[in-house]
Amino acid sequence: MPPLLLTNISQLVTLRGPAAPRRGRELGEIAIIQDGAVLCSGGKIVSVGTRRESARDWFLKSAKRKVDEIDCRGGVVLPGFVDSHTHPAFAAPRLVDFEKRIAGATYEEIAREGGGIRSSIDGVRNASRASLATNISQALAEMATQGTTTVEAKSGYGLNMEAEVKSLEAIRAAAQRWPGTVVATLLGAHVVPPEFQSRRKQYLRLICDEMIPAVSRRKLARFVDVFVEQLAFNSDEARKVFATARKHGLGTRAHICQLTPAMVKPLLEFQPASLDHMDYVSDEELPLLAESETVATLVPGANYFLAANRYPAARKLIDAGVAVALATDYNPGTSPTTNMQFVLSLACTQMKMSPAEAISAATINGAHALRLGDRKGSIEPGKDADVAVFGVRDYREIAYWAGSNLCGLTLLQGNVWTADL
Ligand code: NIG
Ligand code: FE
Repeated sequence: MPPLLLTNISQLVTLRGPAAPRRGRELGEIAIIQDGAVLCSGGKIVSVGTRRESARDWFLKSAKRKVDEIDCRGGVVLPGFVDSHTHPAFAAPRLVDFEKRIAGATYEEIAREGGGIRSSIDGVRNASRASLATNISQALAEMATQGTTTVEAKSGYGLNMEAEVKSLEAIRAAAQRWPGTVVATLLGAHVVPPEFQSRRKQYLRLICDEMIPAVSRRKLARFVDVFVEQLAFNSDEARKVFATARKHGLGTRAHICQLTPAMVKPLLEFQPASLDHMDYVSDEELPLLAESETVATLVPGANYFLAANRYPAARKLIDAGVAVALATDYNPGTSPTTNMQFVLSLACTQMKMSPAEAISAATINGAHALRLGDRKGSIEPGKDADVAVFGVRDYREIAYWAGSNLCGLTLLQGNVWTADL
């Protein structure tokens, strides 16, 4: 592939800065270059500057080879979104739950009646790996079309050895067909499946003694996730899962404080890459989180879809110095959206994040939430050529035009992706 020059960019939002998650005021500093240009080669970003500087670029001058030029037509360019929390390995949408909730049932009530996560289990257990992979590929394609270039993808609707492994294999197969980057996570500890209802200890043993070792040995996932919630697992159980993950060389992350309060301290000891949802995190624990390297990943798509009357307290977290990321939480039960632009809109309107803060949270801090901050999340020389081009003049429009897809072109590790693909 010849080198690629992106030019005629009204605002090049680079997010260049310290090699650490952005906190406090830094979150709003997105390092814009007006009338910018980006040069990529071999799947990496080679140089970044103004269009003028690019005309003098040593690489371009010394590259006697042909350079492909992409005219961004005065649009805005961002690092590709890093969607650091998704559950794409499912068989079907949950339309019955959807109607039940519209009629007034809560997420917890539906779960207690056997709906919710449990109703997706049969679908995944009965699905072929190939059909799951097709569903995941479709989601990844939509994501790329909407500017997302890195995706974390969890299993978690199989909940037995065979179906969790099948889900992770499907994620791997879909990842191999997609030019972006997929980070797989084992979420065997999503809920206790029905056949283990009265034997939860045994299910935990299955996760720790069989699932985690097998997944680690076969390198099917980089992280292990646990749903810490009254209707799922408690913090002692989560600690067991985390300790096992660590022993097997896997990173950790958790769903916590989504529906009810819980303490994050018992988990922070394991230095999880990220703690997600965080709707009910207590004020007293914010300093502890702020001191840690753990990112708080907020997923307002779930609040929106469950019609929650509250959203995570993003302002409090940011002002306390906690590193905050944003993700879709794409899943059939609580957040059926693949669109990070929609998540930015929610973050701004419902959580009072500024558009600049929302962009940092959806790019560089998402990268840190996956421990990929050295490769992803900003447009800087040496990083992967993951870039999204938007047909707007001002970056704030990306959070403003609610529900549209404004992304016209995406580069995934240097590969050009357009909406028609
Ligand atoms: O992130 N909270 C747990 N997991 C998902 C929901 C899963 C489901 O309902 O299918 C979430 O919201
Ligand atoms: Fe989730």
